[in-house]
Amino acid sequence: MIDAGLAAEVSRAADLVAGARSVIALTGAGLSVESGIPPFRGPGGLWTKYGEPPLDGYQRFLRDPRGAWLERLAPRESWAVALHETLAKARPNAGHFAFAELEKLGRCDALITQNIDDLHRQAGSRNLLEIHGNHRLLRCIGCMRRFAEGELAIDEQDLPPRCPGCRGIVKGDTVHFGEPIPPDVLRGCYEAAERADCMIVAGTSATVFPAAEFPFEVLRRGGSLIEVNPYESELSGVATLSLRGPGGAVLTRLVAEVTARLERSA
Ligand code: APR
Repeated sequence: MIDAGLAAEVSRAADLVAGARSVIALTGAGLSVESGIPPFRGPGGLWTKYGEPPLDGYQRFLRDPRGAWLERLAPRESWAVALHETLAKARPNAGHFAFAELEKLGRCDALITQNIDDLHRQAGSRNLLEIHGNHRLLRCIGCMRRFAEGELAIDEQDLPPRCPGCRGIVKGDTVHFGEPIPPDVLRGCYEAAERADCMIVAGTSATVFPAAEFPFEVLRRGGSLIEVNPYESELSGVATLSLRGPGGAVLTRLVAEVTARLERSA
Protein backbone atom coordinates (compact mmCIF):
# COMPACT_ATOMS: atom_id res chain seq x y z
CA MET A 1 0.00 0.00 0.00
CA ILE A 2 2.96 2.33 0.58
CA ASP A 3 4.89 2.77 -2.66
CA ALA A 4 8.46 4.08 -2.92
CA GLY A 5 7.36 7.65 -3.51
CA LEU A 6 5.11 7.73 -0.47
CA ALA A 7 7.78 5.95 1.61
CA ALA A 8 10.22 8.76 0.78
CA GLU A 9 7.65 11.36 1.87
CA VAL A 10 7.00 9.48 5.12
CA SER A 11 10.75 9.46 5.74
CA ARG A 12 10.90 13.26 5.33
CA ALA A 13 7.91 13.60 7.67
CA ALA A 14 9.69 11.44 10.26
CA ASP A 15 12.66 13.83 10.16
CA LEU A 16 10.32 16.73 10.95
CA VAL A 17 8.52 14.88 13.77
CA ALA A 18 11.71 13.51 15.37
CA GLY A 19 13.44 16.92 15.19
CA ALA A 20 10.58 19.14 16.36
CA ARG A 21 10.40 20.98 19.71
CA SER A 22 6.66 20.29 20.17
CA VAL A 23 4.51 18.06 17.97
CA ILE A 24 0.70 18.15 18.08
CA ALA A 25 -2.02 16.59 15.94
CA LEU A 26 -5.49 17.26 14.56
CA THR A 27 -7.68 14.34 13.49
CA GLY A 28 -11.04 13.94 11.82
CA ALA A 29 -13.56 11.37 10.69
CA GLY A 30 -11.23 9.94 8.05
CA LEU A 31 -9.09 8.38 10.78
CA SER A 32 -12.07 6.31 11.95
CA VAL A 33 -13.12 5.16 8.47
CA GLU A 34 -10.90 2.07 8.91
CA SER A 35 -12.92 1.36 12.12
CA GLY A 36 -16.12 1.19 10.07
CA ILE A 37 -17.41 4.70 10.87
CA PRO A 38 -18.34 6.65 7.71
CA PRO A 39 -16.88 10.15 7.17
CA PHE A 40 -19.25 13.11 6.96
CA ARG A 41 -18.40 14.45 3.54
CA GLY A 42 -17.25 13.02 0.22
CA PRO A 43 -17.98 9.52 -1.06
CA GLY A 44 -19.96 7.47 1.50
CA GLY A 45 -20.22 10.47 3.83
CA LEU A 46 -23.05 10.65 6.39
CA TRP A 47 -24.03 14.17 5.33
CA THR A 48 -23.62 13.20 1.65
CA LYS A 49 -26.20 10.42 2.28
CA TYR A 50 -28.61 12.13 4.70
CA GLY A 51 -27.91 15.84 4.11
CA GLU A 52 -26.24 18.17 6.62
CA PRO A 53 -28.21 18.42 9.89
CA PRO A 54 -29.79 21.79 10.77
CA LEU A 55 -27.19 24.32 11.91
CA ASP A 56 -29.34 25.33 14.90
CA GLY A 57 -29.10 21.96 16.67
CA TYR A 58 -28.15 23.59 19.97
CA GLN A 59 -30.95 26.17 19.89
CA ARG A 60 -33.37 23.28 19.23
CA PHE A 61 -31.94 21.49 22.27
CA LEU A 62 -32.42 24.57 24.47
CA ARG A 63 -36.00 25.04 23.21
CA ASP A 64 -36.94 21.41 24.05
CA PRO A 65 -34.31 19.60 26.14
CA ARG A 66 -36.81 16.89 27.13
CA GLY A 67 -37.56 16.12 23.46
CA ALA A 68 -33.85 16.09 22.65
CA TRP A 69 -33.26 13.62 25.47
CA LEU A 70 -36.06 11.34 24.25
CA GLU A 71 -34.37 11.38 20.80
CA ARG A 72 -31.01 10.58 22.47
CA LEU A 73 -32.47 7.66 24.43
CA ALA A 74 -34.31 6.25 21.39
CA PRO A 75 -32.95 7.84 18.17
CA ARG A 76 -35.47 8.12 15.30
CA GLU A 77 -33.52 10.40 12.92
CA SER A 78 -32.06 8.06 10.26
CA TRP A 79 -28.55 9.59 10.38
CA ALA A 80 -28.55 9.38 14.20
CA VAL A 81 -29.62 5.72 14.09
CA ALA A 82 -26.86 4.94 11.54
CA LEU A 83 -24.21 6.79 13.57
CA HIS A 84 -25.39 5.27 16.86
CA GLU A 85 -25.04 1.73 15.48
CA THR A 86 -21.59 2.20 13.96
CA LEU A 87 -20.26 3.97 17.07
CA ALA A 88 -21.42 1.10 19.27
CA LYS A 89 -19.50 -1.49 17.20
CA ALA A 90 -16.38 0.51 16.38
CA ARG A 91 -12.90 -0.31 17.74
CA PRO A 92 -9.65 1.68 17.40
CA ASN A 93 -7.57 1.00 14.27
CA ALA A 94 -3.83 1.19 13.49
CA GLY A 95 -4.11 4.96 12.99
CA HIS A 96 -5.42 5.51 16.53
CA PHE A 97 -2.74 3.21 18.00
CA ALA A 98 -0.06 5.11 16.04
CA PHE A 99 -1.00 8.37 17.77
CA ALA A 100 -0.96 6.67 21.18
CA GLU A 101 2.53 5.38 20.32
CA LEU A 102 3.72 8.85 19.24
CA GLU A 103 2.51 10.16 22.61
CA LYS A 104 4.55 7.48 24.41
CA LEU A 105 7.60 8.53 22.36
CA GLY A 106 7.05 12.12 23.53
CA ARG A 107 6.12 13.11 19.98
CA CYS A 108 2.48 14.13 20.52
CA ASP A 109 2.03 16.82 23.16
CA ALA A 110 -1.64 17.36 22.27
CA LEU A 111 -4.10 15.45 20.10
CA ILE A 112 -7.00 17.65 19.00
CA THR A 113 -9.75 15.40 17.63
CA GLN A 114 -13.00 16.38 15.97
CA ASN A 115 -14.22 12.81 16.44
CA ILE A 116 -16.82 12.06 19.11
CA ASP A 117 -16.23 8.28 18.83
CA ASP A 118 -13.95 7.79 21.89
CA LEU A 119 -11.52 5.69 19.80
CA HIS A 120 -8.41 7.75 20.56
CA ARG A 121 -9.11 7.34 24.27
CA GLN A 122 -9.66 3.56 23.81
CA ALA A 123 -6.34 3.36 21.91
CA GLY A 124 -4.52 4.88 24.90
CA SER A 125 -4.08 8.57 23.96
CA ARG A 126 -4.19 10.80 27.03
CA ASN A 127 -3.09 14.25 25.79
CA LEU A 128 -6.53 14.38 24.21
CA LEU A 129 -8.62 17.46 23.37
CA GLU A 130 -12.05 16.32 22.12
CA ILE A 131 -13.13 19.59 20.52
CA HIS A 132 -16.56 18.26 19.46
CA GLY A 133 -17.08 16.26 22.64
CA ASN A 134 -17.32 12.51 23.33
CA HIS A 135 -20.51 10.53 22.67
CA ARG A 136 -19.93 8.41 25.80
CA LEU A 137 -19.87 11.40 28.16
CA LEU A 138 -22.52 13.80 29.48
CA ARG A 139 -21.88 17.46 30.27
CA CYS A 140 -23.61 20.14 32.32
CA ILE A 141 -24.21 23.22 30.14
CA GLY A 142 -24.05 25.38 33.29
CA CYS A 143 -20.73 24.49 34.93
CA MET A 144 -19.29 22.29 32.10
CA ARG A 145 -18.80 19.37 34.51
CA ARG A 146 -18.60 16.05 32.61
CA PHE A 147 -20.06 12.72 33.66
CA ALA A 148 -19.05 9.24 32.55
CA GLU A 149 -21.71 6.79 31.36
CA GLY A 150 -23.73 5.49 34.33
CA GLU A 151 -22.43 8.20 36.68
CA LEU A 152 -25.77 10.05 36.56
CA ALA A 153 -29.12 8.28 37.04
CA ILE A 154 -31.28 9.11 34.00
CA ASP A 155 -35.00 9.06 34.91
CA GLU A 156 -37.18 9.08 31.78
CA GLN A 157 -39.99 10.58 33.88
CA ASP A 158 -37.77 13.50 34.84
CA LEU A 159 -35.96 14.84 31.77
CA PRO A 160 -33.66 16.66 31.19
CA PRO A 161 -31.36 15.39 33.96
CA ARG A 162 -29.90 18.09 36.20
CA CYS A 163 -26.31 18.62 37.37
CA PRO A 164 -25.89 17.46 41.01
CA GLY A 165 -23.50 20.40 41.50
CA CYS A 166 -25.11 23.52 39.96
CA ARG A 167 -28.57 22.09 38.94
CA GLY A 168 -27.75 23.10 35.36
CA ILE A 169 -29.23 21.11 32.44
CA VAL A 170 -27.18 18.06 31.46
CA LYS A 171 -26.82 17.06 27.80
CA GLY A 172 -24.67 14.67 25.82
CA ASP A 173 -21.06 15.95 25.65
CA THR A 174 -21.24 15.93 21.83
CA VAL A 175 -21.16 19.54 20.60
CA HIS A 176 -24.23 20.35 18.50
CA PHE A 177 -24.11 22.61 15.47
CA GLY A 178 -24.54 26.14 16.81
CA GLU A 179 -23.20 25.20 20.28
CA PRO A 180 -20.14 27.03 21.66
CA ILE A 181 -17.08 24.78 22.03
CA PRO A 182 -16.55 24.11 25.80
CA PRO A 183 -14.09 26.84 26.91
CA ASP A 184 -11.70 24.46 28.73
CA VAL A 185 -11.14 22.38 25.59
CA LEU A 186 -10.91 25.42 23.30
CA ARG A 187 -8.32 27.06 25.54
CA GLY A 188 -6.27 23.85 25.55
CA CYS A 189 -6.34 23.76 21.73
CA TYR A 190 -5.11 27.35 21.32
CA GLU A 191 -2.37 26.87 23.92
CA ALA A 192 -1.17 23.68 22.20
CA ALA A 193 -1.18 25.35 18.76
CA GLU A 194 0.77 28.33 20.12
CA ARG A 195 3.53 26.05 21.49
CA ALA A 196 3.82 23.63 18.56
CA ASP A 197 6.32 23.80 15.69
CA CYS A 198 5.03 20.66 13.95
CA MET A 199 1.45 19.43 13.40
CA ILE A 200 0.18 16.14 11.94
CA VAL A 201 -3.28 16.58 10.39
CA ALA A 202 -4.93 13.22 9.65
CA GLY A 203 -8.30 12.32 8.19
CA THR A 204 -9.98 15.71 8.03
CA SER A 205 -11.37 17.83 5.20
CA ALA A 206 -10.41 20.83 7.38
CA THR A 207 -13.69 22.58 6.53
CA VAL A 208 -15.13 23.07 10.04
CA PHE A 209 -14.02 25.88 12.36
CA PRO A 210 -12.56 26.51 14.87
CA ALA A 211 -10.79 23.13 14.47
CA ALA A 212 -9.57 24.00 10.95
CA GLU A 213 -7.94 27.16 12.28
CA PHE A 214 -5.23 25.46 14.37
CA PRO A 215 -3.11 24.21 11.43
CA PHE A 216 -2.90 27.81 10.19
CA GLU A 217 -1.89 28.94 13.70
CA VAL A 218 1.06 26.50 13.59
CA LEU A 219 2.00 27.63 10.06
CA ARG A 220 1.76 31.31 11.04
CA ARG A 221 4.40 30.63 13.70
CA GLY A 222 6.76 29.05 11.17
CA GLY A 223 5.88 25.48 12.08
CA SER A 224 5.51 22.54 9.68
CA LEU A 225 2.28 20.79 8.66
CA ILE A 226 2.11 17.11 7.74
CA GLU A 227 -1.16 16.10 6.10
CA VAL A 228 -2.23 12.44 6.08
CA ASN A 229 -5.15 11.94 3.71
CA PRO A 230 -5.74 9.75 0.64
CA TYR A 231 -7.48 12.71 -1.02
CA GLU A 232 -6.94 16.47 -1.28
CA SER A 233 -8.27 18.64 1.57
CA GLU A 234 -8.51 22.36 2.34
CA LEU A 235 -4.95 22.10 3.72
CA SER A 236 -3.30 20.42 0.74
CA GLY A 237 -2.25 23.74 -0.75
CA VAL A 238 -0.44 24.90 2.42
CA ALA A 239 0.86 21.64 3.93
CA THR A 240 4.65 21.19 4.23
CA LEU A 241 4.16 17.53 3.28
CA SER A 242 1.05 15.66 2.06
CA LEU A 243 1.16 11.91 2.68
CA ARG A 244 -1.43 10.54 0.22
CA GLY A 245 -2.53 7.27 1.72
CA PRO A 246 -4.87 5.74 4.31
CA GLY A 247 -4.24 6.78 7.91
CA GLY A 248 -3.63 3.33 9.35
CA ALA A 249 -0.78 2.29 7.04
CA VAL A 250 0.83 5.73 6.70
CA LEU A 251 0.83 6.55 10.42
CA THR A 252 2.11 3.08 11.35
CA ARG A 253 5.03 3.59 8.96
CA LEU A 254 5.61 7.11 10.31
CA VAL A 255 5.84 5.79 13.90
CA ALA A 256 8.37 3.12 12.84
CA GLU A 257 10.52 5.75 11.12
CA VAL A 258 10.33 8.18 14.07
CA THR A 259 11.19 5.39 16.53
CA ALA A 260 14.28 4.48 14.45
CA ARG A 261 15.44 8.11 14.45
CA LEU A 262 14.93 8.56 18.20
CA GLU A 263 16.83 5.31 18.89
CA ARG A 264 19.70 6.49 16.66
CA SER A 265 19.91 9.85 18.44
CA ALA A 266 19.56 8.32 21.93
N1 APR B 1 -7.42 7.77 6.18
C1 APR B 1 -7.24 9.12 6.28
N2 APR B 1 -8.12 10.04 5.80
C2 APR B 1 -9.24 9.58 5.18
C3 APR B 1 -9.48 8.19 5.01
C4 APR B 1 -8.51 7.27 5.54
N3 APR B 1 -8.67 5.94 5.44
N4 APR B 1 -10.67 8.06 4.33
C5 APR B 1 -11.13 9.32 4.10
N5 APR B 1 -10.28 10.24 4.59
C6 APR B 1 -10.39 11.70 4.56
C7 APR B 1 -11.25 12.27 3.45
O1 APR B 1 -10.51 12.45 2.26
C8 APR B 1 -11.71 13.61 4.04
O2 APR B 1 -10.78 14.64 3.70
O3 APR B 1 -11.02 12.11 5.74
C9 APR B 1 -11.66 13.38 5.54
C10 APR B 1 -13.02 13.33 6.23
O4 APR B 1 -13.59 14.60 6.12
P1 APR B 1 -15.04 14.90 6.73
O5 APR B 1 -15.96 13.83 6.41
O6 APR B 1 -15.38 16.30 6.32
O7 APR B 1 -14.79 14.83 8.31
P2 APR B 1 -14.17 15.92 9.31
O8 APR B 1 -13.14 16.74 8.64
O9 APR B 1 -13.78 15.21 10.53
O10 APR B 1 -15.47 16.84 9.62
C11 APR B 1 -15.34 17.86 10.56
O11 APR B 1 -17.69 18.27 10.52
O12 APR B 1 -19.81 17.56 10.39
C12 APR B 1 -18.88 18.02 11.24
O13 APR B 1 -18.79 17.65 13.57
C13 APR B 1 -18.54 17.03 12.34
O14 APR B 1 -16.38 16.68 13.39
C14 APR B 1 -17.04 16.79 12.15
C15 APR B 1 -16.60 18.00 11.37
